[in-house]
Amino acid sequence: NKASNSLKDAFKKDFLIGTALNNLQIEEKDPTVNSLIKQQFNAATPENIMKSALIHPKWDTYDFKLADKMVEYGQKNNIKINGHTLVWHSQLPNFIRGIKSSDSIRTFFTEHIKTVAGRYKGKVFSWDVVNEALNEDGTLRNSVFLKNLGEGYIAEAFKLTQEASPNTELYYNDYNNEQPAKRAGCIKIIKKIKESGARIDGVGIQGHWHLGKVPLKDIEESIIEYSALGMKVMFTELDIEVLQRNFQGADVSQRMANSPEMNPYTNGLPEEVQKQLADDYEALFKLFLKHKDKISRVTFWGVNDGDSWLNNWPVRGRTNYPLLFDRNNQPKPAFYKVVGLK
Ligand code: XIL
Repeated sequence: NKASNSLKDAFKKDFLIGTALNNLQIEEKDPTVNSLIKQQFNAATPENIMKSALIHPKWDTYDFKLADKMVEYGQKNNIKINGHTLVWHSQLPNFIRGIKSSDSIRTFFTEHIKTVAGRYKGKVFSWDVVNEALNEDGTLRNSVFLKNLGEGYIAEAFKLTQEASPNTELYYNDYNNEQPAKRAGCIKIIKKIKESGARIDGVGIQGHWHLGKVPLKDIEESIIEYSALGMKVMFTELDIEVLQRNFQGADVSQRMANSPEMNPYTNGLPEEVQKQLADDYEALFKLFLKHKDKISRVTFWGVNDGDSWLNNWPVRGRTNYPLLFDRNNQPKPAFYKVVGLK
């Protein structure tokens, strides 16, 4: 039984395999990366270009150039595009800060969804309609949308998206929503959307996890519980960071970014760390395969370690190794463990 050298081929009968993409890859600047994308992935999520700050920079101005290009790239290469994201408290346009009335926030919210979802009607496979609406304790995040529109904004967003793009799958997406308290909040959201008469097709668990600490039990319980509500379950932004976040974002500084403690593997991964990463990914994909009837997509948050957002977050200048391909687009031991499961 020869192991496949392609993730999308290996898991063809199980779930889609996706990656986050940025303008660099969409504009096909690097042939090596682009052939890797075509070989490995049949789904993609724009890492940034469909976020409101980028696609809707001014009150009455949209910039669809890169998003259109991404959609074309997907069509040309048989890659299903997941729109990301229509309603999110982060990466909002600057002009939002100048808006003082709730009515105007409502106008922004409505027009934004209608315009963006409408433009990509029949062109994107799915939308992350609402992203990260929850606090860790399962209550709703006090975002500009909650403050101005009240808690009905979530169901409203699903209804508006459905009207603008009727045949597109609609998802709620969040991080840590495999954790019990946040999961309970997420289940409430799903039920509320359904009660309102709007449609929701699935739930995305982002999957930004940490080396040696992938919460397999919580993940399995979440797959089962979300699926029992009729949801397609997706892992939408998968990466396993090899550094410890033993500090809080508020007091981080460049000094910390450069300290060996924060950035211990600047010259590559020691063998035991590489092995732990491979073991973590293997355990995770074993679990995904066990529940493949409930899982529709697994998307990595980047093609290779070099593009990962975790190199620069939450401080600039860190070196990280969270994905299956290294900085030279070579498969890592974790890649072979994952495809070796098939
Ligand atoms: C991140 C991108 O990866 C970064 O490039 C950007 O600077 C900030 O946003 N949850 C999400 C994603 O839903 O949109 C975020 O993406 C990562 C966390």
